[in-house]
Amino acid sequence: MVKPIIAPSLLAGDFANLGCDCHRMFKSRADWVHLDVMDGHFVPNITMGPPVISSLRKAVPRDESKPGKFFFDCHMMVANPEQWVPEIAKAGGDQYTFHYEATEDPLALVKLIKENGMKAACAVKPGTPVDVLYPLAEYLDMALVMTVEPGFGGQSFMADMMPKVEDLRKKYPKLNIQVDGGLGAATIPVAAKAGANVIVAGTSVFKAADPEQMIEFLRSHVTT
Ligand code: DX5
Ligand code: ZN
Repeated sequence: MVKPIIAPSLLAGDFANLGCDCHRMFKSRADWVHLDVMDGHFVPNITMGPPVISSLRKAVPRDESKPGKFFFDCHMMVANPEQWVPEIAKAGGDQYTFHYEATEDPLALVKLIKENGMKAACAVKPGTPVDVLYPLAEYLDMALVMTVEPGFGGQSFMADMMPKVEDLRKKYPKLNIQVDGGLGAATIPVAAKAGANVIVAGTSVFKAADPEQMIEFLRSHVTT
């Protein structure tokens, strides 16, 4: 059994008020916040980097008595992901998700991430077959199946990625499996049924009249 984890993406927040948005999400009972780091090379967009994450960590400090609380899930859409591991760790990242497509030695990168005290996760873009993750899975804290082309929020969910999630869930009943892109009220049933338990949601949570209710709604669907 894995537990439901809802991770609102701050990409859909107000970049002039990210600290407030981060607080607001945790107050709305988000399990994690999802931080989309884009470098303009791996994806055609630029967002935030270590200085912003470090400021966010100061605004939302860890609670030493409750490890894992105020968890920063860093989705690294960057070329050369090895380069940023120490800085993201220092900035206060809790998990480092690199893209399989961006590295030549994923196992060495997982080791580096763990040596830097973070959890390690690997993402696959829509065009990448899921079986590339099989040799890595036993070393990973999470696998991310992208349900849009990485780069922008507000895109449509690709339901044809669900066989990847199903395959992973069948093989790895205890692995955290994340889906990212286009998740909301209409698409959560399909993703949850396929076996995803970590749900990233940007637009649907931030545009909801009541974000807390949306987070709870998403959580209530995860059954794995
Ligand atoms: C896209 C990002 C996503 C994005 C999701 O490249 O990785 O995390 O913020 O946003 P929505 O939920 O709006 O699709
Ligand atoms: Zn993301």
